[in-house]
Amino acid sequence: MQICRDLPSLRAATAALRAAGKRLALVPTMGALHEGHISLVAAGRRVADAVAASIFVNPLQFNPNEDLSRYPRDEEGDLAKLRSAGCDLVWMPPVEAMYPPGSATVIDVAGPSAGWEGDARPGHFRGVATVCCKLFQQSQADVAAFGEKDWQQLQVVTRMAADLDIPIRILPVPTVREADGLALSSRNRFLSPAERATAPVLFRTMTAAAGAILRGTAVASALAEGDATLRAAGLVPDYFALVEAETLKPLAARRADGPMRLVAAARLGTVRLLDNIPV
Ligand code: PAJ
Repeated sequence: MQICRDLPSLRAATAALRAAGKRLALVPTMGALHEGHISLVAAGRRVADAVAASIFVNPLQFNPNEDLSRYPRDEEGDLAKLRSAGCDLVWMPPVEAMYPPGSATVIDVAGPSAGWEGDARPGHFRGVATVCCKLFQQSQADVAAFGEKDWQQLQVVTRMAADLDIPIRILPVPTVREADGLALSSRNRFLSPAERATAPVLFRTMTAAAGAILRGTAVASALAEGDATLRAAGLVPDYFALVEAETLKPLAARRADGPMRLVAAARLGTVRLLDNIPV
């Protein structure tokens, strides 16, 4: 597994792969890797001949209230996991290589960036879209794998790549969950044992609400009941909503003409849990 820490060595490594006729899949991450990230590497291996993972804790997507320095980092552990997952290349640039002095270009994706995480974390999707565009250009990958866990991010990146005519396929990968339904996340390590025991109520409540909506319960009452269930369990929902899957526009009623998604964010102690499921 080759490790690249500067752009010339990344360019040389990916050029060599292309010269050998290999299709490259990119897996963008911020490190602190778990089985969810590893499933993206596996998905990349299924559709391409070589897989590159990037590890870059992107300062541009953290807003001033969020503690960038508290983001978990484990370079040795991450590299060991990527190696055993069969990753071919790791791109881990220092911040100055990603954003040299004088960098002045950012990407704002209107539409799917609006609302939900866009409201909760102002500037977040600008940072995500900008760094993903740079990662796509730097790697010249054919495919990039993204987790459905971050549904809004997946839609923002898909929109951005289409709008900017970047010749890359965005590959959605299903959310990896614990046996009790909790979506794997690097934030789960901050849950106390009692909070960890409570956390699966989010997925259970979403599943129940999706079932109720499919059985014909009015959307507003299914959502209100879900919100009440979460609060009764000690979670504080930021949102619990039914949306159009691609645009993230809220739906007040079931849609007949395309896919729907339930999206939710809820605070449990100091941890903000984020999840979504298809309806
Ligand atoms: P990070 O939070 O490290 O996530 C990297 C990728 O792993 C994302 O595509 C995310 O959706 C996916 N992922 C996380 N948990 C998952 C799970 N339980 N199941 C499946 N996939 C999961 O998301 C980011 O980093 C950053 O915003 C990034 C895209 C790298 C840009 O900086």
